[in-house]
Amino acid sequence: MNEDHARVCSSPEWAAHIQDEILPSLTRHADLGADMLEIGPGPGAATEWLRHQVRQLTVQEVDPAAAAALAGKYPGGNVRVVVGDAADLNFAGGCFDSVGSFTMLHHVPTPAQQNKILAEALRVLRPGGVLIGSDSLASNDLHHFHAGDTYNPVDPAWLLGRLQTVGFDSITVIVDGTLKFIARKPAGGDPRDAGSTAEAAACPASRVSRT
Ligand SMILES: C[S@@+](CC[C@H](N)C(=O)[O-])C[C@H]1O[C@@H](n2cnc3c(N)ncnc32)[C@H](O)[C@@H]1O
Repeated sequence: MNEDHARVCSSPEWAAHIQDEILPSLTRHADLGADMLEIGPGPGAATEWLRHQVRQLTVQEVDPAAAAALAGKYPGGNVRVVVGDAADLNFAGGCFDSVGSFTMLHHVPTPAQQNKILAEALRVLRPGGVLIGSDSLASNDLHHFHAGDTYNPVDPAWLLGRLQTVGFDSITVIVDGTLKFIARKPAGGDPRDAGSTAEAAACPASRVSRT
């Protein structure tokens, strides 16, 4: 993130926007369950709200400094911070009841990588699990705001088709000044889970202790 971006995303105003406007409107339509994965948490505007809604919140952040800062904020609680690329999740298939992605996809440099992230979200969801997300819509202002930073905004029409192609079902895409989306993993599961390269990886502790 560039400097302006880092400042806005860690501001109380941004946290209020995410926590008061975005997340309640998404979770009205989605049961997050007990185990949630948030990808691209950054300074944690969504993390702070979500951790009160689920039993265990795992967050995966590609920027080691941002991940370390977040881990320092939540020592010993129900937030587990993992450093790494959301396009290559080191969790077994079916670990999570829900996955969340907020203001993150437009920071992913290519559509192919965005697709990979959506496919990974599907893989790690349990059958019937839900993906919720939001992102900024393309605009000149947003483009200028990303000077020197990755700027690859998601086309809402593209998103609907991509979610469907990746294997999601019951997809809702909302455009109301921002982009919001909700999509479910089919209850029958996804045959692509079988034989996944990450199959040897484990689920976060709370899921393991339940099985
Ligand atoms: C604009 S910030 C949004 C932070 C937070 N989700 C929010 O809404 O306030 C985007 C975050 O996504 C992270 N990110 C970008 N690409 C990622 C990837 N491939 N895997 C995991 N995190 C990623 C960035 O490092 C950054 O912290």
